[in-house]
Amino acid sequence: MEEIQRILNEVLPLVVPSEEEVKKAKDAEEELRKRLDDVLKNYPQLEYRFLGSYARNTWLKGNLEIDVFILFPEDTPKDDLERIGLEIGKAVVDEYELRYAAHPYVHGIVKGVEVDVVPCYKLKSAGKIKSAVDRTPFHHDWLKDRIKGKENDVRLLKKFLKVAGIYGAEYKVRGFSGYLCELLVVFYGSFLDVIKNATAWTRNTVIDVPAGKIYKKKGMGFFVVDPVDPKRNVAANLSLDNLARFVQLCREFLRNPAKDYFIEKEVEIPSDEIIANEIEQRGTGLCAVVFEKPDIVEDNLYPQLEKACRRIEDFLRRENFLPLRSRFFADESRCVLIFETQVKELARIRRHEGPPFEEEEHVERFLRKERKYRPFIEGGKFWVYVERKNWKVEDAIADLIRREWRSMGKNVGEMLKKHFEILVGKSVLKIEGKEFRRFLVDFLCLKLN
Ligand code: UTP
Ligand code: MN
Ligand code: MN
Ligand code: MN
Repeated sequence: MEEIQRILNEVLPLVVPSEEEVKKAKDAEEELRKRLDDVLKNYPQLEYRFLGSYARNTWLKGNLEIDVFILFPEDTPKDDLERIGLEIGKAVVDEYELRYAAHPYVHGIVKGVEVDVVPCYKLKSAGKIKSAVDRTPFHHDWLKDRIKGKENDVRLLKKFLKVAGIYGAEYKVRGFSGYLCELLVVFYGSFLDVIKNATAWTRNTVIDVPAGKIYKKKGMGFFVVDPVDPKRNVAANLSLDNLARFVQLCREFLRNPAKDYFIEKEVEIPSDEIIANEIEQRGTGLCAVVFEKPDIVEDNLYPQLEKACRRIEDFLRRENFLPLRSRFFADESRCVLIFETQVKELARIRRHEGPPFEEEEHVERFLRKERKYRPFIEGGKFWVYVERKNWKVEDAIADLIRREWRSMGKNVGEMLKKHFEILVGKSVLKIEGKEFRRFLVDFLCLKLN
């Protein structure tokens, strides 16, 4: 244990913001407050609050971002809230872009610092929220005093998760949100207590934060009760597999504590030649469906990619291609759905099932059909060999997409309908970019140094 404490002390400077960063934040906050006070003179019914990790001093070094919320009276029409919220946001930042959560909000820069200006309703209780962001003021009020003295434990946890690629509740990540990190630290008391206790978490674990209890209950998945709204699972967006990754990571860290768990490292990606050799050698079918990225936000795109992937993988299983795994990838301009199968090519013929011998009329109809092969009887039923429409895995996928693009997510489906390309085997390496290679190497489960 002493060794772990020593390591945690050593990595603290990697997670706690430097004095300059804090100073920069304070300057930006001061300027932002001035601008907000000024703009809000025109809107006497509105107020603003600093919430999120900046307000609680739990932001991760190098990831400074100020979250400011504009609170609207409960009876404001949603349109007005959105319109005025954006107006105010645009007025108080130096440069901005629009982002989307429950509704659009302004993400901008003030004195070199990133700022989110988010409109929300000011409610009396978190039980009757109108949109997900309305809980945020309640989250802050609940955490504000409880997190005092534990800020750096939150930072250690955020960094530990970030290095593992599972920090953030957005669909692209499906990991742990900042709020979840803070709740866990409050519930267990420290970073190390979170890690130790997590080794025994299961898919049925319920962490009842308001009741101060932990128990198991089947059927709802890993559940962290929101103290401001007990029906709400704060871990709702944490995927089962990322839960499993975290639990295993905690076990390994405790068995073998090291600074590495807090340091993002550039992994060396094998050369295209090595990847190509591996693809040839393992003898699997590998198909990448490449298409233009629809112009939608990530939280909308990723669930659609997931759906398209699942549809195609299920099809490959039904058609006896024996899929190993499927995954999806997206960058600024394109999307890739990738499939690896144990079968590249099936026989040209397959068995087609006919009626049982007892059903005379059906049998007659079955036998009357013009066919290449002679039907046979097996298990009291008629069967016949028929020619397969698609025997190559890539042709089968292409055919499925052309027939069933509608079931592959609204925008993803429309893009697939318009145009797609399938790359087969080592030619998936025609897809350019380092990020894709990282993804591919991970997909193929290749070991890295
Ligand atoms: P953040 O995503 O900024 O999280 O949302 P955070 O807790 O400040 O953590 P880091 O350090 O920036 O990563 C701030 C709060 O705004 C609400 C959440 O309640 C969150 O606690 N929020 C934000 C949403 O509800 N939805 C969003 O899409 C974004
Ligand atoms: Mn934040
Ligand atoms: Mn954030
Ligand atoms: Mn934010």
